[in-house]
Amino acid sequence: MDRSSTRVLAGILPGAAAAALAAVLAVLPGQAPAQTVRIGVVNTFTGPNSNMTDYIDRGMRLYMKTHESGLPPGVKVELVTRDDGGPNPDAAKRLAQELIVREKVQFLAGFVFSPNAAAVAPLSAEAKVPMVIMNAATSSITTLSPYAVRVSFTLWQTTYPLGQWAGRRFKRAYTLVADYSPGFDAEAAFEKGFRDGGGEVVGKVRTPMSTQDYAPFMERVKESKPDVLFAFVPAGRTAIALLKSFRETGLDKAGIRFIGTGDTTPEDELAGMGDAALGVYTSMHYAASADRPANRSFVAAWKKEYGEASEPVFTAVAGWDGMDAIYGAIRAQKGNLSPEQSLALLRNYRSADSPRGPISIDPETRDIVQNIYLREVRRVGPRLENVEIETIGTAVKDPWKEFNRK
Ligand code: PHB
Repeated sequence: MDRSSTRVLAGILPGAAAAALAAVLAVLPGQAPAQTVRIGVVNTFTGPNSNMTDYIDRGMRLYMKTHESGLPPGVKVELVTRDDGGPNPDAAKRLAQELIVREKVQFLAGFVFSPNAAAVAPLSAEAKVPMVIMNAATSSITTLSPYAVRVSFTLWQTTYPLGQWAGRRFKRAYTLVADYSPGFDAEAAFEKGFRDGGGEVVGKVRTPMSTQDYAPFMERVKESKPDVLFAFVPAGRTAIALLKSFRETGLDKAGIRFIGTGDTTPEDELAGMGDAALGVYTSMHYAASADRPANRSFVAAWKKEYGEASEPVFTAVAGWDGMDAIYGAIRAQKGNLSPEQSLALLRNYRSADSPRGPISIDPETRDIVQNIYLREVRRVGPRLENVEIETIGTAVKDPWKEFNRK
């Protein structure tokens, strides 16, 4: 039956029958209903750490652009974005609520900052909306909602193996971390790893999140003469200030080594750090320079889209892989999503083709399982790069959850 004949039929049918007929026709072959899956993104699009979100956003959009043809026929995906403006749990919660209630999103995604993700997690549970965490790295977040799935990393995951590695090489360490939840995780994870490796933590300092002046803290470190300083601060401008201050206060000349999580040497800040970053060792699940085939093609697609001078950082990969997990869930359900089914698919996600190497979600904890690499900042051609020199953890599950298992 063609369209004009149905219009005629509808014209002579009573109202309810006409409506029923219209509903049937809406799903007739050849007339696949245009369906849009909406992903509500709550992230930090403005402020001093907005570059992290910018990379997540570009990673998500590059994935969407290059995988459009992989969606079921008639299905489209739309991002509905909201800016939480920084570590601001109240704003994140209000925006997530609005995305759930008014925008009727089928997934929540984004979340650079842990306090924001922690504030939104209970809402995702209440509303049964799967929440894909693309950065926030405090271990406990995924325990706050059975609907939270993390595709980024945890500070325990990157730091505990680094602590063990360093504990076998150095005797005395000092730790410096940003004064909020992921910093507390990094501090505890490093100390446990360093002790397990055979070393001793001789001093600790927690620095205000907004600080740009690390000199007073560096003086304190210098006085206690450790062999090594371990640091975690959120990736972004703060990381530049930290490394510069390490050199300017002469800690390197005093024979102290700087090591950190990969957040302290993100690729986009290396040029600004200059020689201050050379020789620094960090641990992370990704480096843009990694020579894996999946990473080579990811970086090539990235440069084609965003320019030869641009390189992805670790948050870009979380955006990319997060979309791969979401697209997998959409494909498996042929676009007709149920929250329970989406969650089941997300928590069983695995990929052999991530730019960071093989990854999977641990269905029990909903946290990512991945390799952790030791990287050194080296000059490669005209630019500074994080160069992976050793895999210091293979298929690492969040150690905090492993240690706290009953
Ligand atoms: C976090 O808030 O969990 C966070 C923020 C920035 C990072 C890492 C973790 O670089």
